[in-house]
Amino acid sequence: MQYAHPRPFPDDFLWGASTSAYQVEGAWNEDGKGASVIDVHMHRPEGVTDFRVAADHYHRYEEDVSLFAELGLKAYRFSIAWTRIIPDGDGPLNPAGITFYHRLIDALLAKGIEPLVTLYHFDLPAALDERGGWSNRDTVDAFVRYARTLFEEYGSKVRYWLTINEQNMMTLHGKAIGTTGRSGDTDKRSIYQQNHHMFVAAARTMALCHELLPEAKIGPAPNIVSVYPASPAPEDVVAADDWDAVRNLLYLDVAVRGTYHPLAWGYLAERGLEPAFAPDDAADLAAGHPDFIAFNYYSTQTVGASTGAASDLETRGGDQQIVRGELGFYRAEKNPHLPRNEFGWEIDPVGMRTTMRRLWDRYRLPLIITENGSGAFDELRDGRVHDTYRVDYLRQHIAQIRLALADGVQVFGYCPWSAIDLVSTHQGISKRYGFIHVDRTETDLRELARTKKDSFGWYSRVIASNGEDLG
Ligand code: BG6
Repeated sequence: MQYAHPRPFPDDFLWGASTSAYQVEGAWNEDGKGASVIDVHMHRPEGVTDFRVAADHYHRYEEDVSLFAELGLKAYRFSIAWTRIIPDGDGPLNPAGITFYHRLIDALLAKGIEPLVTLYHFDLPAALDERGGWSNRDTVDAFVRYARTLFEEYGSKVRYWLTINEQNMMTLHGKAIGTTGRSGDTDKRSIYQQNHHMFVAAARTMALCHELLPEAKIGPAPNIVSVYPASPAPEDVVAADDWDAVRNLLYLDVAVRGTYHPLAWGYLAERGLEPAFAPDDAADLAAGHPDFIAFNYYSTQTVGASTGAASDLETRGGDQQIVRGELGFYRAEKNPHLPRNEFGWEIDPVGMRTTMRRLWDRYRLPLIITENGSGAFDELRDGRVHDTYRVDYLRQHIAQIRLALADGVQVFGYCPWSAIDLVSTHQGISKRYGFIHVDRTETDLRELARTKKDSFGWYSRVIASNGEDLG
């Protein structure tokens, strides 16, 4: 539908930006921090994905928050590193880690920036991983204890909480993003049991949040994208529905409705992958109710019915956004109507509108986009970064939020990825997303100096005009 006069963004719309702890903080072993699975599996100083210093935000958070304020952010979405708070995951607390996030939150509040806190963004404590990670039910209790610590420490300052970032991507692409646990536990059956334990942990955490902090709001943060059928052939439509259920709806149905989506359960049962339920699990899942749905959106996916041939599979193997295909289930297709970025991710602003409409239609919960952006090899020249491609990408997506609002969807915030340059999950610091450039390469840390990109000035005008000036 088209609108001659789409309504303006609400006055209290949360214009924000996002980061995650392990990708931005650095200081990976300082001030009592314990090791996470990322520290164990993903430190490769000789090549890409070296997270040890990252953007050094841990030491430069004051400068960064001042820049966020200059950008005009109304909200900043960041994650807390579990291993800073509880170094081994379930043992003694680490006062220095707790203090760091008090300082960060206080600095944000002093500038009038709403903190949106993700409890867990890929960086499981390595000590828990050694004891089986999410395969071990004790990790559920450890997570709930960790969440309780955060609610008690920061609950008087933080109003918005996100449970687990992209649980669906950890389940589907754990190898690419470095979250797959011990080698013995990487078969699909174990992974879906781990996934189930995360569901229980998130549900218990949402219930705990409501009990301890009745004024706060909490929700899940999966990666959700519309899935298109490759053609109008009914078999392709069935394949698209099936993949939508397994990639997207499984994660939202459990979070919102407390039950497994029937198509997703059918997929698991057919393959002998159904998770075992402990006696209290069904009741725990039913008792966890989100106040909103946060979702990360980068691209859509297009799939068709499986032909059973190797050509069903994307040869690069897929990642968070490149659809992979599964023999006997669905085949991967490129969408001929969409351009792709340098990393092969299709660019589909309209797909973000359809994603919002579908989510609202199915769940009727307020939405917030907690990630959206396009990675690029930015170039710093003469103190400037002319990232017009980033402005183009974000402008088109923001225009679609406005249309979704006109469609009647409740959207209360937009947090592009990322507030500042940080290290990509598996493609290094050269794949940049930020409004603020951080001067370093994969191997040379240089001065880590901050420079405002062209997109910084543009986004600050968008925010100042409450989304009217997308110029
Ligand atoms: C999301 C993650 O999958 O996508 C982020 O939540 C990640 O952590 C972002 O950085 C972009 O992906 P990538 O692989 O380009 O860093």
